[in-house]
Amino acid sequence: MLICSGFTQALSLITQALPRPVVAIEDPGLPGREAVIAAAGGTHLPIPVDTEGARVDALAAGHAHAVVVTPAHHFPLGVAMAPGRRERLLAWAAGNGRLIVEDDYDAEFRYDRQPLGALHGLAPDHVAYVGTTSKTLSPALRLAWIVLPPHLVGPVCDAKQHHDVASGIVEQLALARLIESGVYERHLRRLRRLYRHRRDTLLAALHRHLPSARVTGAAAGLHLMLALPGNADPQRVADIAARDGLALTPLDRYRLHAPAPGGAQLVLGYGNIAAAAIPEAAQRLRRAVVAAGRD
Ligand SMILES: Cc1ncc(COP(=O)(O)O)c(C=O)c1O
Repeated sequence: MLICSGFTQALSLITQALPRPVVAIEDPGLPGREAVIAAAGGTHLPIPVDTEGARVDALAAGHAHAVVVTPAHHFPLGVAMAPGRRERLLAWAAGNGRLIVEDDYDAEFRYDRQPLGALHGLAPDHVAYVGTTSKTLSPALRLAWIVLPPHLVGPVCDAKQHHDVASGIVEQLALARLIESGVYERHLRRLRRLYRHRRDTLLAALHRHLPSARVTGAAAGLHLMLALPGNADPQRVADIAARDGLALTPLDRYRLHAPAPGGAQLVLGYGNIAAAAIPEAAQRLRRAVVAAGRD
């Protein structure tokens, strides 16, 4: 296992360790991955995502050497990769000598479903597993870990050595102390309760104030998807809500390609809002949706 400075550096190091790779990435997905891949000497290839996760048929039709996926909880759609899809993805990697980069960015937060086993456990020679403390402690800490297939340990460790030698040792020692003392586990249990409560409060408030909006992707993580009622334009809703002090992100902001029609969705994060403030925020959201519908 290699400790590095966040998932972002993990992606950079893995790309550097492969010879000028084509790296497939989920579309929609976390912004900025394409720039990280380009800076590390690779090329990105967007692959679509549906309700079963990343589309392996689209991957198989391309020429990617590696793919970055969020199989346990897609970001931002919130879907878990279907069992058949997981199998096909592993077969794609094993059959072609390709690499899967498993971004398990919020594994600690599951509410209504059992945690899914990591892909890495099923194919350790073809999967680089990346975990991060960005959701459990703070994105400011810049601490993550990569469990690598054996053939990549040398090249990725070399890339890390050339890049910044090592991630902050003091922070690593502090994290080790937290884990050994049991404090980290207690912290995670407390966070799970806290975020579940926020999630439940948000679902109840949306049900009350926007009953015709459809919620998906709420079973895990720190965000959910909201499909707006009628023809509301998510960007227009976000602009109006911003003037009312509410920050919202349209799903299209996370897309690399032009949006598909009918995808009027907002990504609602609840990692950074107190439960007590959620009902008022939902009312502001309703006001913005109503105002956007009037234009
Ligand atoms: C999909 C996804 N992957 C990874 C991360 C974490 O990236 P990093 O470890 O570089 O902060 C995030 C955000 O926290 C994310 O949303």
